[in-house]
Order: sequence, then C-alpha cells, then structure tokens
Amino acid sequence: MKLQLLGGMTAREFLRDYWHKKPLLVRDAIPGFKGLLSPAKMKDLACSEGVESRLVRGGRHWSLGHGGPFRPADFSKLPRRDWTLLVQSLDHHLASGAELIERFTFIPRARLDDLMVSYAVPGGGVGPHFDSYDVFLLQGMGHRRWRISAQDDLDLVEGLPLKILKRFEVEEEYLLGPGDMLYLPPKYAHDGVAEDECMTYSIGFRAPAFQELGEGFLDFLHDELELPGRYADSELALQKHSAEIPKTMLAQIGEELEKVRWDAELVEAFVGRYFSEPKPDVFFRPPARPLGAKAFAARLAKNGLKLDSKTRLLFSGTQFFVNGEDFGATGPERRALMQLADTRALPPADYGEALTGLFHDWYTAGWAHV
Ligand code: SIN
Ligand code: CO
Repeated sequence: MKLQLLGGMTAREFLRDYWHKKPLLVRDAIPGFKGLLSPAKMKDLACSEGVESRLVRGGRHWSLGHGGPFRPADFSKLPRRDWTLLVQSLDHHLASGAELIERFTFIPRARLDDLMVSYAVPGGGVGPHFDSYDVFLLQGMGHRRWRISAQDDLDLVEGLPLKILKRFEVEEEYLLGPGDMLYLPPKYAHDGVAEDECMTYSIGFRAPAFQELGEGFLDFLHDELELPGRYADSELALQKHSAEIPKTMLAQIGEELEKVRWDAELVEAFVGRYFSEPKPDVFFRPPARPLGAKAFAARLAKNGLKLDSKTRLLFSGTQFFVNGEDFGATGPERRALMQLADTRALPPADYGEALTGLFHDWYTAGWAHV
C-alpha cells in the first residue's frame, strides 16, 4: 500500500531504499496536520510532575537549563528568541500522541522509542548535532529550517552540556511547514532552527549500544544462573609456595564457569523482557476503585480492552512480553494476544477464564483499561 506519510512510497520501498540509508523529505506527509497541542498546553505539561522536559537556550552560548517540572514563571522570563522547550514521551501523556506513533508501526514496536515534541521561538533549536538512532521529524505549527549533512566528522564541542558538532558542513537545506516530514538515518548531522514560533514532533527509535545490551544480558543471566555444587579439593597436593593459586583450582573453577551457557530461548526471553521494560521513570496509575473479577469480565465483554499508552506488549512465537515480564500462550489465546499486541486493543468478547484473569491483573495494575 502506498503511503502519503512516506511520500507515496510503500513501507517496503521505504525500508529498502531509505531506512538507515538516506534522508527523505516528504511534503504534506500528513495533510492538514497542525500539531497535537498548543504551546500553552505544552508548557502546562512541562510544569507537571512525571513529565520529562528540558529547556535549551541557543544563540551564542548553548545552555541546557534545568529539567522539568518547570514553574509557569520560568517561561515568562525568557527572551523572545533563541530558546526551545522539549517534552519527551508525548505518546504517554496525550492520546493523540499515542495515535500518531501508531502511523509508524511499519517499524517493529520493539524499535519504537517515543514521541518527543519541541516548541521553539524564532532562532530556537538544539544546535547542529547527530543522533545515534533514526528519527522522523514531523512539523506541526510554524516553520523550521533544517540543514543536514552526511559528514563523517562527528567531533563534538567539548565542555558543553549539549552534543554540538565542532564543524558542521551543510549539504542540504529544507524549510518545513505544517504536515511536512523529514526522515534522517542514524548519525546524520542536522540542525533545525525555528523560523517563527514553531513545534516539531520527533518519532524516535531505540538502538541500544551492544555494551548496554551485554550488561543487561549479564544481569538477566545472573537471575537465571544455576550452578550447583561447591569448590572441593579432595586430591590436594602439597605445594612449594602457599600463596600460589593452585593450577587445579584454576582448572576446576574454569570448568564450572564453562557451564554458564545460553541458548536461543534465553536470548529471546532477555530481548523480550528488555524491550518491553518501561523506562525507569514510567509509573502506571492503577484504578482508584478497581472492579472485581466478575464485574471486570462483564465490562470486558461489553467494552473490549485497551492497553494503557505506557504498556509495552511484544511477542516472539508463543512467548509474550509485557512491561518486562514474560509468559507463554498458544491457540486462540495466543491469537487474541497477538491482535492485542499489534493493535493495542481487543473488541468486546468472552476471552475465556485464563485470559480474562490475566487482563484483570493488568487492569488492576493500570496496564490496561476496559
Ligand atoms: C528539535 O525538535 O528541535 C530537535 C529534534 C532533533 O534534532 O532530533
Ligand atoms: Co536530532
């Protein structure tokens, strides 16, 4: 299917020709798109508890103000030019943000990170930089001038609180208006400067460093590890130097450690848990007066189920991963869960005792709603 969002390309063509490879400018990617919230509403969000926000001041000196929550007075003191306010995880705070991100599910959900919004006054931006992940930059209100470069020189200015490129050699320049979108592959140098009061929505992706994944995997293995027995040396021979570690000791321990092994199943469990784990600052809001099991089943049969916007539900074969936990499912239960994972909702129906019980637990934890 050809997608206006991708400039009339199919998702398959986009993945083949652009994803991770080269930038794509799409005029009118979302026709009529004016943005999801007003600057005033965005400032309100930046003043709320549990919302990650930052203020960046540009001009001659780059500075990263304190993070949120802000006070309304913080914004009234700012100059008329050269600053920008960023709010992270808009998809968690706004239903329309969660809906916007759904347009990008031609990329696996495990790779989707969050929707960030920036508000900038004229001249505002975060400076010439690169990101380590792919990004779709969708223009809402106003206009932003993007300058981009495929340069390999990614040296950063030292001693700044922000990642600012030491040298930036502009290769292409685009002025984006409401509904226009620019896709950039990882490490593509870019600088977006507000022409007028403007807002930009960034759909970002997760690309963890292998070091980070390795450390996470070792933590995971730690919990899974089972090495029975204890060091023993019934054949201990007298040695010349009492401080020398016996060779037999090294050999025996080495042999035991060789038993720390993993297989594809364990890797699957790790990857599923890792990518479905909500960020540490995510808190679910359980219902104040939750329905009991029976009332819940009736409501589920009448209204269906909707995942909370913060819930991450992924699967691999018959294994399902929800907010860092895993479980298996087969048959019609698996099919229902796959539908829920793909579309984030289930229509009204009787889902059987086991699934209804599971959904009730999720509902009680604030992970899903009926
Ligand atoms: C912005 O919206 O100002 C910054 C987005 C980005 O450059 O990644
Ligand atoms: Co960027």
